Amino acid sequence: MTAARGRPLRGRARVPGDKSISHRALILGALTVGQTRISGLLEGEDVINTGKAMRALGARVTRTGSGSWQIEGVGVGGLAQPGELLDFGNSGTGCRLVMGAVAGCPIDATFDGDGSLRKRPMQRVLDPLTRIGAKAARVGEGGRLPIRLQGARDPIPIVYEPPVASAQLKSAVLLAGLGAPGTTTVFEKEATRDHTERMLSHFGADVTVETVGLGRRITVTGQPELAPAQVLVPADPSSAAFPMVAALVTPGSDIIIEAVMTNPLRTGLFDTLLEMGASIETLAVRRDGGEEIADLRVRGSSLKGVEVPAERAPSMIDEYPILAVAAAYADGITTMRGLKELRVKESDRLAATAAMLQVNGVEVAIDGDDLVVRGRGFVPGGGQVTTHMDHRIAMSALVLGQGADKPVQADDVSFVATSFPGFADLMRSLGADLA
Ligand code: S3P
Repeated sequence: MTAARGRPLRGRARVPGDKSISHRALILGALTVGQTRISGLLEGEDVINTGKAMRALGARVTRTGSGSWQIEGVGVGGLAQPGELLDFGNSGTGCRLVMGAVAGCPIDATFDGDGSLRKRPMQRVLDPLTRIGAKAARVGEGGRLPIRLQGARDPIPIVYEPPVASAQLKSAVLLAGLGAPGTTTVFEKEATRDHTERMLSHFGADVTVETVGLGRRITVTGQPELAPAQVLVPADPSSAAFPMVAALVTPGSDIIIEAVMTNPLRTGLFDTLLEMGASIETLAVRRDGGEEIADLRVRGSSLKGVEVPAERAPSMIDEYPILAVAAAYADGITTMRGLKELRVKESDRLAATAAMLQVNGVEVAIDGDDLVVRGRGFVPGGGQVTTHMDHRIAMSALVLGQGADKPVQADDVSFVATSFPGFADLMRSLGADLA
């Protein structure tokens, strides 16, 4: 797909439901006795794969309308032995969280995924799950998929300190801890997205969260009977990031992105863009589904380079490729610090982001774990971006092209469907030139 400079973006748009919350709603719905109803579920491939996995593990998962799903759960400890391999496609979140859920049950399941997921580290999640009593009966080379996991017969509650800031790791341990008698504790040195904790409480689990410096200590009491709950999935701020930056870098644009979740553990990008001089107005702040949401008015803006501290990374971990696009259009240098984790996302996002800019005439450097972009207020463009099976690189490339002097091409946009079905149509409805 090719993106060319078009007219200013105008109008209103609503991006799909939050990916993190969608995965968790399906998993916790399956661990509940009774019927959970979900509305606004992200119907992207990643989440659909999690739904299929929960079905293979014994839950009844039914689509009742657009974004509306119903789950008849089996209860904590009630997951059934799957008759098939669990294929998570491109999704680290689905795979790692379901590993956690399986680890706390006496069943045996094989986890696999696509070429991208097979390259991503899984040992980090197997380590704590093994302490809880699960056994990795077969593991691909270097702690990679495919992995056969035998859940614990008698799960042991643990106290765990993740070695990296990762909501997936934290969540896997909390979900496994549901199967253990007593309390399981995760102490994270830096706070990461808290959707698992919030949703566990929403389903009636006994969860406590204590702030400790920049981090949090989270405790869950195991073997609860989770009560079915209704889940309203708010719009995904990580998806809103793409039309937002497109509007910022296209002079004369003025758009409203509706009902975006503004959970502070997810809004590092918005804070950074405001520091860069972006015109982003937060309108109609309200609550929905246990989260704060708002309409965001975004207007074309002159941006300036900024320094993004490493401590901000957990709150915008998926947003660096699109921030790098904004930085390319800014005046001056933007330094993004502490991006080691980007190397183990759907692609090596640090390398893929730098290559995306370089091939389009933007000066960029990787310095250790930092990304440094020298913005000149314009982007020459004209390059073909290799997306490496990574949805966020594909969408970032297409936004890059919307303000560039020459069109920008993304080599493969099929993975956009993992998180943002309808992306191209939504962008076109605002006025973008994507062909
Ligand atoms: C997610 C956590 C993050 C993020 C991913 C979604 C989640 O991964 O990159 O897109 O829903 O918990 P890590 O936990 O590996 O940082």
